[in-house]
Amino acid sequence: MTAVTVTVPAKVNVQLAVGGRRPDGFHDLANVFLAVGLYDRVTASAADELGISGEGRDIGSVPLDATNLAARAAIALAKLHGIEPRVHLHIEKDIPVAGGMAGGSADAAGALLACDALWGLGTPRDELLSLCAELGSDVPFSFVGGAALGLGRGELLTPLEVGGTFHWVFAAADGGLSTPAVYRECDRLRREEGAGDTVAEVPAPVADPGLLDALRGGSAAALGAVLANDLQPAALSLRPDLRGTLAAGRAAGAVAALVSGSGPTCAFLAADAAAATRIASALGPTARTALSPAPGATILP
Ligand code: C5P
Repeated sequence: MTAVTVTVPAKVNVQLAVGGRRPDGFHDLANVFLAVGLYDRVTASAADELGISGEGRDIGSVPLDATNLAARAAIALAKLHGIEPRVHLHIEKDIPVAGGMAGGSADAAGALLACDALWGLGTPRDELLSLCAELGSDVPFSFVGGAALGLGRGELLTPLEVGGTFHWVFAAADGGLSTPAVYRECDRLRREEGAGDTVAEVPAPVADPGLLDALRGGSAAALGAVLANDLQPAALSLRPDLRGTLAAGRAAGAVAALVSGSGPTCAFLAADAAAATRIASALGPTARTALSPAPGATILP
């Protein structure tokens, strides 16, 4: 085999319950992930040494060097097997960069699967998932896709049942938000409110049983009523302009609107495909429609 191409989906968090800051700096989460049908493609080609290239609208803000999470994934897999990372990775980016949709995590998950196939390693799935968790909190979910509850820092996954297709619209915002900066702002807002921000002070996050029921039921109205993102106040504090985007989507008929993960992408749940098209056109040319759930990292034939 000389090249392997893998598609990997973006995600939206339909519930992101954020607990206190742990001694290791991460936050305990109850993170309900839903994979959505916006995909990056990662192609791994045989090469003498590690190389990386990319294409797509936002590619200028992606580091195309060994610090890229996809390159780190290739290096980690090679190390596990005691081999050299002889691969060129090419990333076709369609997921907004630094947008709160796990685009970097998607590329890492895609690179792992593509390199494993290219190098003929046949790494067991649980070992690939452990590597994913070392690379980042969202990488295991990017690998598995569908819908899942992520506990711990988001890496301990339990698959969830989804009873239908959900229609989404995503409005990417200019300039990304740094995930650590959004968590820091969340902590700052909590301290300012006098609630404290550590695991000892913040109640442990729990998945909302009503939200899991709504996912299982497949009704947009039911899911829209319970969407929740604890990082949203922090994202809005850093990017007050997002309030206008959320309001515009609601005015255009969205069942619900929320910031996707740490933002700044805004996510709108639509009643059906026609409503999604109307909301996207009201939000402007960069808004995208997508369906969920979507499959995880998949090797293209
Ligand atoms: O795991 P990942 O590298 O994606 O995390 C990026 C940053 O986001 C972490 O360094 C941390 O600041 C923050 N984070 C967190 N709690 C989590 C996940 C991420 O504080 N559960």
